[in-house]
Amino acid sequence: MEKKRIVSGMRPTGKLHLGHLHGALLNWKQLQETYTCFYFVADWHALTSEYADTHIILDSRRDMIMDWISIGLDPQVSTFFVQSEIKEHAELHLIFSMITPLPWLERNPTYKEQLRELSQKDLFTYGFLGYPVLQAADILMYKADGVPVGEDQAPHVELTREIARRFNHIFGAEVFPAPDTLLAPTSRLLGIDRRKMSKSYGNAIYLTDSDKEIDQKVAQMITDPQRMKRTDPGDPDVCNVFAFHEIYTGPETAQEIDRECRKAGIGCVECKKRMAEGLKKGLEPIRAKRRELESDPGRVDAIMEAGNQRARSIARDTMEQVRSVVKI
Ligand code: TRP
Ligand code: SF4
Repeated sequence: MEKKRIVSGMRPTGKLHLGHLHGALLNWKQLQETYTCFYFVADWHALTSEYADTHIILDSRRDMIMDWISIGLDPQVSTFFVQSEIKEHAELHLIFSMITPLPWLERNPTYKEQLRELSQKDLFTYGFLGYPVLQAADILMYKADGVPVGEDQAPHVELTREIARRFNHIFGAEVFPAPDTLLAPTSRLLGIDRRKMSKSYGNAIYLTDSDKEIDQKVAQMITDPQRMKRTDPGDPDVCNVFAFHEIYTGPETAQEIDRECRKAGIGCVECKKRMAEGLKKGLEPIRAKRRELESDPGRVDAIMEAGNQRARSIARDTMEQVRSVVKI
């Protein structure tokens, strides 16, 4: 039997951090074993919020693909492509926009939340409201069976299913299957200030950070806020440093830290130092692979080009079908 197909995208709006790694990329990596995967750089989606200053988008495109390969996504196994290089996405978006009822978009919880959160940008645009329509085009173009996303994107996949059903119904043909949402596990790693890790909060640890940057950031991390003095016992369950230990220094060390922390047998300064060592060690293979790729940008460009071609040939087929049932 043929493998099922999944599609997912990421917006190129800057360097990738540990939130991306543990929230999405490691999941993507695992899915490679079971699915035929299409992973793409969602540069048109980035434009919805970065339209006033687009250089970050172009700068991050190649960077993002290098990060993907560095963490173990394999261009021999999965297809990587750039959304704006497949113009068919724009055409399908336009057709979907004709049949998508406005209230479906206006009541989208992710839309409302983003308007609130990104209030420093003017997002009252046509394109931003239509963001999930473009996303539906990305997904349905490849007739995906599943879409791995975080919780915040689940409403968009739901909308994609509704658009697929409506299209099939209106044009009287089963062109698009309705894809499943493959919910990614949420990352337990918070930013250094204990809020969600995000570029816009300035609290992120990046995949490309140097040892020195990692040491500095870890030293600044907020630990158990109840633990004021060295002699106070701490609670690893509420400590973000501990969450990092569990991943980066391994279960044995984490167990020991857990025990010692609870009886004030270890101080936070010492505990952080040990964690930083584990983190640096854990990130080193990623950074090494990344240096190797940086020394050969032509190779990354060739990978992107090959992926674009594979994606484009599927997109062409889908659009032929779409045009034939829409009759335009
Ligand atoms: N909206 C997604 C995000 O912000 C990115 C995205 C664009 C996407 N198109 C997609 C994800 C299609 C999955 C499938 O994270
Ligand atoms: Fe957190 Fe470690 Fe401090 Fe305990 S000792 S509160 S686990 S940093």
